[in-house]
Amino acid sequence: MKALLYICILLLLRPAFANMAPLKTQIDILVQENPIVTNLAQAIDGYAKDLATRRNQAKDGYSLFGKERELGFIWQNKLTCSTCRYVTDWFDDIIVFKPFRYTFEKGISLLCTAFVDYRVCSGAVEAMAEVILPQLASGIFGPEYGCSRMLGFCSDPNFKTLDPQDYIDRVLSDKPEIISDNDYINKKYEMISQDPKERKTVSILHITDVHLDFDYTEGMNAKCNEPLCCREINGPPKHPENAAGKYGDYNCDLPPIVAEMMIEYVKELPDQPDFIFWTGDNIAHDIWNQSSHKNAEYTIQMTNWLQKHYADIPVFTTPGNHEFYPVNVMTFDEVDPLFEMLGGVWRNWLDDQAYESFINYGFYSMPLKGIAEDWNGFRVMVLNTGVCNNMNWYLLTQLNDPLQHLEWIEDTLRQAEENNEKVYIISHVFPGGADCLYEWSVRYRAIVERYQHVILHHFVGHDHVEFFNIITDTKNQDDIGMMQAPGGVTTFTDDNPAFKIYEIDYETGLPVRGHKHFFNITEANLGNPRWQYDFEQTEEYAMADLSPRSFRDLTERFLTEEGTATKYFKNKYTRSDTLGKGDCETEKCKKEMACKTGNFIHFEERDCLGEKRIDYIHDFTDSLFETMFDPWVIAQ
Ligand SMILES: *[C@@H]1O[C@H](CO)[C@@H](O)[C@H](O)[C@H]1NC(C)=O
Ligand SMILES: *[C@@H]1O[C@H](CO)[C@@H](O)[C@H](O)[C@H]1NC(C)=O
Repeated sequence: MKALLYICILLLLRPAFANMAPLKTQIDILVQENPIVTNLAQAIDGYAKDLATRRNQAKDGYSLFGKERELGFIWQNKLTCSTCRYVTDWFDDIIVFKPFRYTFEKGISLLCTAFVDYRVCSGAVEAMAEVILPQLASGIFGPEYGCSRMLGFCSDPNFKTLDPQDYIDRVLSDKPEIISDNDYINKKYEMISQDPKERKTVSILHITDVHLDFDYTEGMNAKCNEPLCCREINGPPKHPENAAGKYGDYNCDLPPIVAEMMIEYVKELPDQPDFIFWTGDNIAHDIWNQSSHKNAEYTIQMTNWLQKHYADIPVFTTPGNHEFYPVNVMTFDEVDPLFEMLGGVWRNWLDDQAYESFINYGFYSMPLKGIAEDWNGFRVMVLNTGVCNNMNWYLLTQLNDPLQHLEWIEDTLRQAEENNEKVYIISHVFPGGADCLYEWSVRYRAIVERYQHVILHHFVGHDHVEFFNIITDTKNQDDIGMMQAPGGVTTFTDDNPAFKIYEIDYETGLPVRGHKHFFNITEANLGNPRWQYDFEQTEEYAMADLSPRSFRDLTERFLTEEGTATKYFKNKYTRSDTLGKGDCETEKCKKEMACKTGNFIHFEERDCLGEKRIDYIHDFTDSLFETMFDPWVIAQ
């Protein structure tokens, strides 16, 4: 029974500990090793299958539980409907009742202490409960959704299921002839490689996931029993080998000195970047002890550095999931206060239209102007993937297309197509990934397929590691585009700090070479602190170019060529002296690398690996979140 309670608690806290593998692993171990919980997970798993069927039935107006099929008279009966509404309304009153809230929070914090320090638990619980409880009470357990859609007691409003396939068909209905073979980007790369002349280039610096820690203190315990170590509060270690080094530790966030050194280093490079893409998550992982003010300070510090040292270089940036307070949760009830705050900090980098858009929605698009005067016809779209982040509790009350972001993306790309512009897309949490909900991602991909001749490249972050991902068409057959993450600047966890500079073909705007730079923290802590050149991608992996086709060839070589998957695996962690020392020569690991890089949509990656899409036994948390936020509906 205790195990069951733990699971509930950990689930509630999952968003708070996002990106903290240990917590997710704890849940998965609990689910797999405790017989009671395994049985429960199996039951839920069976139920989820049932739910998929019901979901289809619900399209024609039946509730999700479908009990009305057996108990006809209860369905949409005035009396049962008003009773249901009365009871669900009452939830609202309970949760604002202080003693209830207090007991709830204290109870959960105490149980959470089985895994992490009480101080950490209570901070996280307090921050999260504030959001979760009201969202549950007015969302799936609320009088409208709960009584109509879940239980079927009320007929008003009537929730109609929106089928993603209808959306996809609509988006692709006017797909132009020039992209009918889904090979537009590959052909452009072919044209580039057949050109005998030396081609002119510009360059883009991409930095992400800096995760500075202002409280990082050399000599403190780096192996503490908390999600983040190396701080005064952790005290000195018992064993001297566990002391935090001056230049960072694989268990901790980044000492600011390493970020400052990065900025100095880039300034000294022979080829200066023409643009900077900076994709968020600037703050430390002490999510149990934050405030909006404290969170903003990290972004302000980074902004000051960039504006001071690269005053003439245009910067395009987005907050990550960690900039929000509390972490991950972005409200839709009002404009999230983060946007106005950061909009002010970033005002110099935004034109008027981009600024207005950002402070209201957290996304914007802006022409790439400023440096090379005659380099026209290029645009950056900055997404706000808080709308698909599966750890954003506010999505519980969203019925479909939150912030109408997809609609905006489609409109912006249509305009770009009309104006003959080409577009770079940047975001923090990446579309298609495990943390971006399926219902959103699969619709997003249809838009990418429809505008594959307009979109040049996706630059993303979030996972801290370096990776690439091939974007395929809706049928998952053709390779239509590319998405890449350069590797985070932070050391958290188990990776060396890194960033990338892409050479961009002047005429087409396509990335033609990717230069990785890094900082070896082991070497630095031994007395030789320096940023250094690592490799160029096409050379490192013997690729013809950076086209989707060449990346596809690379994913196939992961399986067939000795050492290639291992090389990719080590580079993911920027060859850290912990995980980055491992290899990837087993069939299982090679397949994992190939499936992960070769599939854009997380569920299709699971298909490729032979895993079930929803699997409560092996992947409890992700499965639950996908089920909770699925499907999209419309109230009629
Ligand atoms: C929160 O951080 C402050 C310093 O920034 C520290 O004094 C305090 O003890 C921390 N509280 C918790 C609960 O960790
Ligand atoms: C980092 O430095 C350590 C110590 O000098 C060395 O053993 C290791 O190979 C270096 N790693 C990389 C990727 O250069």
